[in-house]
Amino acid sequence: MQPSSVRGRRTLITVGILLLLTLFGYTIHYAAPQSPLLAPSLHHTDHDVGILEDVLNRTLGFQKIYAINLPYRTDHRDAMSLAAVLTDLDIEYIDGVTDVHEKARPPMGAGVDLDEPTLRALRAHVNTLRLIVENNITTALILEDDADWDIRIKEQMQSFAKASSLLLQPLQGTTDQFVDPSYPQPASNERPQNFEIGSHAIERPSTSPYGDIDRWDVLWIGHCGCRFPEANDGNTPLGRVVILNDTTVPEKQHIQMQFGNNDLTNEYPNHTRVVSRARVNTCSLAYAVSQSSARRLLYEMGLNVINGPTDLTLRSICEGSEGRRSRVCLTVQPQLFQHHRTKGAKSSYSDVSSDHTGYNEQAFTRNVRWSTRLNFAKLLDGETDYIDLFRDGEKPLNLGF
Ligand SMILES: *[C@@H]1O[C@H](CO)[C@@H](O)[C@H](O)[C@H]1NC(C)=O
Ligand SMILES: *[C@@H]1O[C@H](CO)[C@@H](O)[C@H](O)[C@H]1NC(C)=O
Ligand SMILES: *[C@@H]1O[C@H](CO)[C@@H](O)[C@H](O)[C@H]1NC(C)=O
Ligand SMILES: *[C@@H]1O[C@H](CO)[C@@H](O)[C@H](O)[C@H]1NC(C)=O
Repeated sequence: MQPSSVRGRRTLITVGILLLLTLFGYTIHYAAPQSPLLAPSLHHTDHDVGILEDVLNRTLGFQKIYAINLPYRTDHRDAMSLAAVLTDLDIEYIDGVTDVHEKARPPMGAGVDLDEPTLRALRAHVNTLRLIVENNITTALILEDDADWDIRIKEQMQSFAKASSLLLQPLQGTTDQFVDPSYPQPASNERPQNFEIGSHAIERPSTSPYGDIDRWDVLWIGHCGCRFPEANDGNTPLGRVVILNDTTVPEKQHIQMQFGNNDLTNEYPNHTRVVSRARVNTCSLAYAVSQSSARRLLYEMGLNVINGPTDLTLRSICEGSEGRRSRVCLTVQPQLFQHHRTKGAKSSYSDVSSDHTGYNEQAFTRNVRWSTRLNFAKLLDGETDYIDLFRDGEKPLNLGF
């Protein structure tokens, strides 16, 4: 497969350089990261290797990757299976739900009335969480079956893991000191601080490459918009980890935050990805959970109370609204997983919402440069001149909302 052989070559070259430098008595000191994607191995020192390498495995360093698929959406499953095999991922399917018995409906908040497709989608997520609980799965990534990702997803996830660890792990030699001064709660007028990956020595995570599993609940890496936490949210640390010069991030003119705001493009240079606590996230198209957070989500979404669709319920769990306890949820802008929009009738986009009408001429995946799905034909024939709808210096396409 092309991307991994490219990566293999890069790794070999990097190892070669490191060997030469070592022979000549040089020590590599950690400096500000250059492109995290061009030279991944230069970005971590020896003790990094280990659990961080697990991110490159076929389940992205989680125990499982599950994809929710309604059996009649064979088109979605065809695409998901092909995308998985072409990017060396191992995905297990969870059947979507076509009926929720009247008596089995979750308790609804006062005045809340969800339509059948929304209830079924929610139920499919709850079934997935229950499976994780029943099988004692340590960590899992849950995908909706129209999610797409960059061919370079493994390298991207490795940068994300360095970023999430920097927010979640204590500073080296401590158990309760964190890089983010706004942890655990910001002062009323506190400003967010930015940190580059690798800028501080932290206690290395040992139970998950993304940060020890008892330190996070949800890694919300596929969404259709969010914003950074603010001091007046009250209960969310503000720290941000910036991944600079990430060539997988499109220039600002191409980035569309949909249901989020434009702070990312207003405040950061081109090609920057930023990891922070999740706030006001919309769309539950890719999120990772741990065994203990799956239990909490099973309780909140299956048994406690439902006031909205899956994504708004997940948001409320993260933020601790609607009388819930808040949870540790991290996210990333721009997101690493996004809906793929195929060419054709827009009504095929979703089985949950009937908002999509009209015809889509140009297949696309917002904010994802080397979309796996757009590049199927090239990947299958081993070509590497990948289709990129968001080239540097070019005008943005009109993709609609
Ligand atoms: C990012 O790229 C810019 C311009 O190419 C360069 O000036 C800067 O030093 C780079 N920053 C990092 C952290 O690599
Ligand atoms: C990937 O790494 C995770 C974390 O160590 C592990 O649980 C999982 O089994 C690994 N996946 C594969 C396919 O080896
Ligand atoms: C669940 O998994 C954890 C660690 O992965 C293990 O310590 C525990 O004993 C398991 N529980 C059961 C009931 O198997
Ligand atoms: C970002 O890239 C665009 C397109 O190349 C360019 O016009 C703009 O000046 C860049 N912005 C910054 C802040 O570098």
